[in-house]
Amino acid sequence: MSRKIWVFDTTLRDGEQVPGAKLNIYEKLEVAQQLKKLQVDIIEAGFPASSEGDFQAVKQIAQQVGSSSNMMITALARAVKTDIDSVYNAVKYAENPMIHMVLGTSDIHVEKKFSKSKDQILQIGVDAVKYAKSLMPQVQYSTEDASRSDFEYLWKTIEAVIDAGATMINVPDTVGWAVPEQFGDMIYKLNDRIKNVNPDVLLSVHCHNDLGMATANTLQAVKNGADKVECTINGIGERAGNAALEEVVMALSTRGDYFDAFTSINKKEIINTSKIVSSLMGLDVQVNKAITGDNAFAHSSGIHQDGLLKSRDAYEIIHPTEVGLDDMELVLTARSGRHAVRNAICNLSIDINEEQFEDVFADFLELADAKKEVYDHDLFILVEDYLRRHDK
Ligand code: KIV
Ligand code: ZN
Repeated sequence: MSRKIWVFDTTLRDGEQVPGAKLNIYEKLEVAQQLKKLQVDIIEAGFPASSEGDFQAVKQIAQQVGSSSNMMITALARAVKTDIDSVYNAVKYAENPMIHMVLGTSDIHVEKKFSKSKDQILQIGVDAVKYAKSLMPQVQYSTEDASRSDFEYLWKTIEAVIDAGATMINVPDTVGWAVPEQFGDMIYKLNDRIKNVNPDVLLSVHCHNDLGMATANTLQAVKNGADKVECTINGIGERAGNAALEEVVMALSTRGDYFDAFTSINKKEIINTSKIVSSLMGLDVQVNKAITGDNAFAHSSGIHQDGLLKSRDAYEIIHPTEVGLDDMELVLTARSGRHAVRNAICNLSIDINEEQFEDVFADFLELADAKKEVYDHDLFILVEDYLRRHDK
């Protein structure tokens, strides 16, 4: 039976860590309102202990966006009481508050970052979960740098924090170190053990894109049992970013035949959300970015355009309207064929016969050679000019 995959959006926390992308409280509220329309399951609204501004933003989001909704509102805390208190005091206004706690499990984190023993770190994590659990029912524990951690220590930590009350275990590939097959194997083993201990605990993944594999690792994790994915809009986030929400969601939906899983995302809001995040944060989306890039649904080669006009599925695996665009775009260039140009003229409601079209097509090629792209308005002027010159 097809499984529901929870979508946890961290655009306002990991995404906002991008240098220069800082939002003010009103902008954060706007993004959160849009994420609600997008129907994400969980919004990570910020890191309240980091500043008074962030605390206020998380609190406002909990009050205004999370108070009349099933969607969970969470925020990040280190495994220390003051951070946990900050999160609690900010998210408690939401209908479904949740805390997201993070503590490293790799030797690098335990020994070099914290200068502690593994047992000490494990105990700190357990005590923090117990305290958080006394305040809120939903506690997520993130084993930071999990993909570079000793597997048996990672498991010992997970088992102990579940026993202490954690309801979600998040496995971060913090530095984008994982490769899909290896990561998938790790998730498979963890899922097996977690579900044996407590089948209600959700297993989550949080993948970074340092080697360009964040989406692939996330999908491989889903294939191997992960229940929840952590993503950002347009894949923004620390360094090379996080798994892009739109890529993960559209891969699960388009290749449902393979993944046998679905999300509750309102796909028609994907492009709107991408545009809002990009413009408020001042972060351009690369033109060839999957799903949300300007060229993601634009076809320019003549062979492709001809094929598409005959049968869209020849070169199109997602109908653009599914993600909220009007329709596919045929970009007219010198490589476009007669079929595409004829179709574009027809869409402009200009009536010309075959003989006239041949002349217009010759003019079009001349223009397209001089200009990189020919837009509808160029074509309109070109045809009108031709008709005027020929007194028709
Ligand atoms: O990348 C990471 O490990 C994180 C954690 C807070 C989940 O962002
Ligand atoms: Zn991260």
